[in-house]
Amino acid sequence: MELGLKNKVALITGASKGIGLASAEILASEGTNLILVARDLDRLKDISQKFKKIYNSTVICISADLSLKNSSDMLVEQALNEFERIDILINSAGASKAGVFEDLMDEDWENALNLKFLGAVRMVRAILPVMKKQKYGKIINVAGNTGRQPHPNFLTGSAANAALLAFTKGISEYIIGDGIFINALQPGPTKTEHWDQLMEKLSRNSELDPKEFEQEFLKQIPMRRIAEPIEMAKTIIFLVSDASTFMTGRSVTVDGGWTKELA
Ligand SMILES: NC(=O)c1ccc[n+]([C@@H]2O[C@H](COP(=O)([O-])OP(=O)(O)OC[C@H]3O[C@@H](n4cnc5c(N)ncnc54)[C@H](OP(=O)(O)O)[C@@H]3O)[C@@H](O)[C@H]2O)c1
Repeated sequence: MELGLKNKVALITGASKGIGLASAEILASEGTNLILVARDLDRLKDISQKFKKIYNSTVICISADLSLKNSSDMLVEQALNEFERIDILINSAGASKAGVFEDLMDEDWENALNLKFLGAVRMVRAILPVMKKQKYGKIINVAGNTGRQPHPNFLTGSAANAALLAFTKGISEYIIGDGIFINALQPGPTKTEHWDQLMEKLSRNSELDPKEFEQEFLKQIPMRRIAEPIEMAKTIIFLVSDASTFMTGRSVTVDGGWTKELA
């Protein structure tokens, strides 16, 4: 099947690790031109070198802290100095502090909402004029299944994810007339640095070491394992490709059967 990704331009936040990186690599292999965004520029440059060598990709790297207000405008401006258009936006930058309610201060709630929710909102705001002019765009917000099934250990992330899902659905009707599709991915537990840090932190409140804690945690998941980042990336690539032409304002849960819901 032709995915229609060759020579398109994709901007990926959180591209240096985990789900963002796995998505970037599939796009590179499909011949998509890439704008990779994260704070750690050296790491992005190493990835860019690898993609150029293996896939002959055209890649630019931009260091930006997306929790800061003006980053999104700055980086879209920088991207447009290199490319004439931006077809795809994948918002995968995000991190939120885990822990039970008493562990969380105002600052932790603010940080989670500021990066994961407002960071994505600001990226959409910055890129919308570009996509409207093109009359084409595919946007993915990487949220998390706790947006639908909040978890006592992931309260700040649950709130930020729920807000992101509401935004995704709410804005979808407003932009589809301009040919701009927006959907959300709700990953379940996925083997990334973010996940390893979570297990390490949460296990401290138990008598288990991080590995044992993870094994206990996995009992909640019907498939009894966590995902690899590429399993999330494959769904993202479907949504941003020409294989998906009648889907907008939806959130797709990829969680090994964990979330208890009918749809
Ligand atoms: N892994 C899971 O189990 C899981 C489950 C549900 C949802 N999610 C969500 O999926 C998304 C991706 O998670 P992941 O597991 O792939 O995380 P990850 O491996 O920790 O990668 C996070 C990415 O975001 C970037 N980032 C972090 N803070 C940033 C900031 N302030 N400004 C710009 N970039 C920033 C990081 O690069 P720098 O540090 O260089 O900036 C990195 O590229 C997140 O929104 C996460 O909440 C993950």
